Amino acid sequence: MIEFRHDVDLRSLHTFGTPARARTVIELHSQDDAAEAADWLRARGTSSLVLGGGSNVLFRKNVDTPILLNRIKGIEVVSEDASSVEVAAGAGENWHGFVEHCIGHDWCGVENLALIPGNVGAGPMQNIGAYGVELKSVFESLDAVELATGEVHRFSRSDCRFGYRESIFKKPPHKGRYLITRVNFRLKKVPDFNTSYGAIEDQLEMMGVRELSIRAIADAVIHIRRSKLPDPREIGNAGSFFKNPVIDEDAFRRFHAEHPLAPHYPAGEGYVKLAAGWLIDQAGWKGFREGDAGVHNRQALVLVNYGKAHGNEVYSLSERIQQDVEAKFGVQLEREVNVIEA
Ligand code: FAD
Ligand code: EPU
Repeated sequence: MIEFRHDVDLRSLHTFGTPARARTVIELHSQDDAAEAADWLRARGTSSLVLGGGSNVLFRKNVDTPILLNRIKGIEVVSEDASSVEVAAGAGENWHGFVEHCIGHDWCGVENLALIPGNVGAGPMQNIGAYGVELKSVFESLDAVELATGEVHRFSRSDCRFGYRESIFKKPPHKGRYLITRVNFRLKKVPDFNTSYGAIEDQLEMMGVRELSIRAIADAVIHIRRSKLPDPREIGNAGSFFKNPVIDEDAFRRFHAEHPLAPHYPAGEGYVKLAAGWLIDQAGWKGFREGDAGVHNRQALVLVNYGKAHGNEVYSLSERIQQDVEAKFGVQLEREVNVIEA
């Protein structure tokens, strides 16, 4: 049975903590609830907004369309052999809880993604990534209810067309069409560690780790994250506000000639990724604050709400940063956070 709530204060349902209200929130606890919600929406001819942990959204106004709050739980083994295990997780499971579950069972593959806020169902939306690993490397498939028909579809890894912070679910015609209910992962039972991200090696050394383990890598990642990212329970934020810009090699050659010290990373044949945090920092915005909207003082890629900022104030600040970075570096920043305008 789906549960309805009306005139809901959204501040506790998203991590930016900016003020917004929802006319209707529908809480879902099972695949059947998802089908029931789809029927309900269809009968009224209305669209909806799916919300997981609310850690990658910025509300600019009150929300009139019904919000589907995904709370579908459950973690189970689908199949296993000597070297790997396929695990299914309900889309409403907390992501870090799922990572801890995997660590507890010695399943290797998601430890670098420890402590990313939010729920399992949003992971494939933007192919979450951190410390040298992206979700696509452990992704097997997902189930999603098509809200306009109530039909359940299964998407394979190739169907999802994952890219850097991208999937088909972020772009038309799939955007807003599906409610992801369950995600299947393929994890390794044999150690296959990824310590390619320099900071992990340094942190492991500082921790005095001699023998690598899933737990040690997760602990190193958790330590690094706590040292530079603001805890949303203390300061409102949604992680990186912008994507790291990917530019072609010609543009990079011109950029690099002027800014030889700028961090950069290979991004596939003919492309280079720049560090948006460095650009924003060098443009002088780090630690900037106007009212309660600001730029975090340890990580310039994170915009923050110190308490009473409105979503529009954070948004205007992001526009000013985009304009300034483009004027100073000739590089366009694209928002990574999902801006909710309606
Ligand atoms: P929400 O914010 O609730 O939703 C995000 C988007 O997904 C929305 O468009 C929503 O409609 C859609 N959505 C959510 N659930 C479903 C579903 N079940 N079906 C269909 N659509 C759905 N991200 C990274 O990739 N790497 C990081 O290192 C990282 N670090 C972060 C650090 C901090 C401090 C914070 C606050 C955020 C960070 N993020 C990071 C961003 C965020 O945690 C991820 O994007 C996360 O996957 C969002 O999950 P969520 O459940 O909170 O999604
Ligand atoms: N930098 C600065 N100043 C800053 C911030 C960063 O000079 O204020 C420089 C750093 O010194 C470093 C480079 O920029 O040389 C990159 O910084 P960092 O390693 O902190 O990572 P990031 O590129 O800023 C990305 C992801 C994070 C993810 C980390 C670790 C994006 C948009 N962001 O940040 O993801 O946790 O790498 O893998 O890709 C998120 O998506 O919300 C998120 C936090």
